[in-house]
Amino acid sequence: MCGIVGAIRQGEPVLSALVEGLRVLEYRGYDSAGIAVHTGQEILVRKKQGRLANLEGILEDGALAGASAGIGHTRWATHGAPSDLNAHPHMAGGGALAMVHNGIIENHQSLRQELAAKGIKFVSQTDSEVLGHLIAEELTAAPDEPLAALRAALARVEGYYAVALLLDTDTGPAILCARQGPPLVVAQGPGGTYLGSDLLALLPHSSDVVFLEDGDMGILTAGGYALFDAAGNSVERVPEAIDWDPKEANKGPWPHHMLKEIHEQPDVLARTVFDRMDEEAGDVILPGLEDDALRQVERIQVVACGTALHAGLVTRYAIEELARVPVDVDFASEFRYRGPVLAKNTLALALTQSGETADTLAATRLCQKLGARVLAICNVQGASQVREADAAILTHAGPEIGVASTKAFTAQVAAGILFAIRLGRAKGNLSVERARELLQGMRGLRSQMEQLLTQSKCEEMRSVARRHAAAKGFLFIGRGINYPIALEGALKLKEISYVHAEGYAAGEMKHGPIALIDPGMTIVCVNAQSPLADKMRSNVEQVQARGGVVLSVGSDQATHDLARDVCPVPTALEILSPLLNVIPLQLFSYYIAEQRGCDIDKPRNLAKSVTVE
Ligand code: F6R
Repeated sequence: MCGIVGAIRQGEPVLSALVEGLRVLEYRGYDSAGIAVHTGQEILVRKKQGRLANLEGILEDGALAGASAGIGHTRWATHGAPSDLNAHPHMAGGGALAMVHNGIIENHQSLRQELAAKGIKFVSQTDSEVLGHLIAEELTAAPDEPLAALRAALARVEGYYAVALLLDTDTGPAILCARQGPPLVVAQGPGGTYLGSDLLALLPHSSDVVFLEDGDMGILTAGGYALFDAAGNSVERVPEAIDWDPKEANKGPWPHHMLKEIHEQPDVLARTVFDRMDEEAGDVILPGLEDDALRQVERIQVVACGTALHAGLVTRYAIEELARVPVDVDFASEFRYRGPVLAKNTLALALTQSGETADTLAATRLCQKLGARVLAICNVQGASQVREADAAILTHAGPEIGVASTKAFTAQVAAGILFAIRLGRAKGNLSVERARELLQGMRGLRSQMEQLLTQSKCEEMRSVARRHAAAKGFLFIGRGINYPIALEGALKLKEISYVHAEGYAAGEMKHGPIALIDPGMTIVCVNAQSPLADKMRSNVEQVQARGGVVLSVGSDQATHDLARDVCPVPTALEILSPLLNVIPLQLFSYYIAEQRGCDIDKPRNLAKSVTVE
């Protein structure tokens, strides 16, 4: 989704910091980019549809090169097609200010009509430009009080925003910002003050960052920043020390971030899990989730979106088996609008890589309103979901840049299983011995994952993918705790390869999807050694009998024996098998996308973090 950067320095140029900031944000998905700077005399804007390279092309005239204050934006079109004119920044007030905006102004049509009636000329079709003109109007009325003008304009807006303005104040150029919904982060670096909608854009300047709260506004100058809360009171927000290394966000020698991130999974698992295990006690250490807090939990409501929802489904199987607590799982986007009923003592569990997904945040706010406590499993320290939750388990996947989630998924599943063990122990439903067996199994997963990621294994997967790349469709089937892995395998494939793929519970085949089977279809069968393995084998036989081509992924040799193609996976406890089975499926999607020449890290139409509905 859209990205914002801002930089203001004492007499030092900011253009390269802005361009580099936008480059860091590219991974989030965008269709145009732009920059505005204050030269000391005037505000200049350059913006261009398409990739950042197009913008860099028009920066070569050097006009923006010496300016020491500026803002930048990557736009992901919502209102108005991707175009040069619809790109941000938008100018308003006859050149008095430039503005960038993430979010949605819901009442933009009525505001546009009102401003047009006053003679304002609009150059774009965006909702954002409306906000720019509204602010400029207020600024004309109160030229010496830019923050008050911004506040007055925002008071008329219905919707969500992270907004940054570049303008002149009586002490020189300044950047104003405000947040209601989409994230904004500020930091003071050695040479100046910086703003970003994603902390990755700030890490090259400082690892101590402040996350604005909803309703906050701020003013940035070269010497620092001042923040104000929704009531207009000056506030001190304590900077958080972020332990991500900005270099982790580089892909290094890898052809794609996605492939790099798939290969990072053994380390991600170790970082997320190992320090939290107490094998001797047969328990897991999760601060804020001690026995007292968990004993009263009678139900769990999982809310999440996309891949994170699949991790939530795996977690459901683990919690119900290990802790014997009933679990409901819902798409956050459905949950928030269906007038849900939550039983007493329900714990809401939100899984989210970014911690900024609008639907998941709205769903957990609703859970809190209905009286539930919220636990977040999240990958981003300081994210809204973490700050709003009553407790959090941080996954340690590091920055995930590939739009298709891989390492964040395995970290979420691993954290979900840790939580299931902790809950099982707190509720007295999981024995020390069984917990120890699970923890030992988890310790062994790192090397088992490594076995799946050797060069020869990857080459095998690449050949398998080549053999199937021309299939007219893909059906992924699984049972039990591997059913969500079938869903995840299908989602990965459609996201990055743009081929039709569906995930299904294998037992549901005969209730409809079996009609799809013919020799042009590939059926990916995800299996494990489990009491359900026999049933899975008969599903495979049914598929083969109808001419379908089966690729068997998992550890059940008897299923492999039936299949045309196989991808053997090391044997693990059934509950842990999703953490292994998902890896060949990620590689399968990656290599099919490679074969089809797709833009793997930035699949069409997708954004990394969906901060609006
Ligand atoms: C798919 C993918 C998405 C996200 C979903 C939720 O590869 O990445 O489906 O899982 O948008 O995002 P987070 O986890 O940030 O809430």
